[in-house]
Amino acid sequence: MARILTGLQSSGDPHIGNYFGMIKPALKLQDMGKHECFYFIADLHSFTSNKDGKLFAQNQKNCVLDWLALGIDPEKSVFYRQSDIRAHTEMMWYLLCFTPMGLLERAHSFKDKKANGMETNVGLFTYPMLMTADILLYDAEIIPVGKDQKQHVEMARDIAQKMNHHFNSELFVLPEPQIEELVQTIEGVDGQKMSKSYGNTIPIFGTEKEIKKKVMSIQTQTVKLGDPIDPALCRVFAFHKLFENPNLVKLENQYRNGEIGFGDSKKQLFELIWEYFASARARRKKLEKDDAEIEKILRKGAEKAFCIAEMKLEKIRKKFGLEGKHLI
Ligand code: TRP
Repeated sequence: MARILTGLQSSGDPHIGNYFGMIKPALKLQDMGKHECFYFIADLHSFTSNKDGKLFAQNQKNCVLDWLALGIDPEKSVFYRQSDIRAHTEMMWYLLCFTPMGLLERAHSFKDKKANGMETNVGLFTYPMLMTADILLYDAEIIPVGKDQKQHVEMARDIAQKMNHHFNSELFVLPEPQIEELVQTIEGVDGQKMSKSYGNTIPIFGTEKEIKKKVMSIQTQTVKLGDPIDPALCRVFAFHKLFENPNLVKLENQYRNGEIGFGDSKKQLFELIWEYFASARARRKKLEKDDAEIEKILRKGAEKAFCIAEMKLEKIRKKFGLEGKHLI
């Protein structure tokens, strides 16, 4: 059974683009039952930019709730918070001592952020090695990530290879990035790629009013009432397809015969989206009030992750001449 691992960013308010691009494929892998899935909240990474503890805690909790509500099953996947497993940060130190400066200097993500005027602390610079620790501690083989993270996984592979060579042993499994090439880019309400930074998203867990407003704002061509519309050119229709509208054929005919306008199509789309996430919304509402249950789930995941990570760390410490276990 191959081990799959990926980090979930706690950046708040997941939207439909995140859902079809990342969340749905991750849940599919979990439910196929062919792999061991490790899904963790990559919360420590966020300190590179956010230093507000209250905001951090809020984002962290929301991320846990979002993923559990949308279908992470703690019986099937190992689900934990990065910040609960101390081995990640210790491991990062060992990795950093094998990391040439030039490797990190070539990281696209760092270069882009710097070019955009973001404050460049050393945490941001060494971010790829925290990610490498996340991966190598668990001997993960397959790392599903977006295109922007491919280089980071390749760095993890490089360092794993380098350390295996240095210690002349198969200390680490070499991870492989898995890029979801097949996932179409989801367009936002304005036709650009759906992204929080463009303000064109449809949030999954928005209120009825918020979601309706977003759906009604989807940009369309101007067509006279009663004129036919080509469904292939209509952004609203593309969303109907994405959400697998059971009446798609009927809708398509109505489009072609000029029997439906954009307003009505949007109203139907809103109903479809609202219904699509109804059970996730109900689960989230219930969980929100059940801190004990959330803690139980996180504890279970952390215990499993802790054992695996500690065993690996022990081996690595020994390679460096340290005792496997800390004295205290
Ligand atoms: N950096 C990743 C992102 O921005 C999140 C992440 C952190 C991650 N650690 C990871 C992804 C380990 C895969 C494996 O999306």
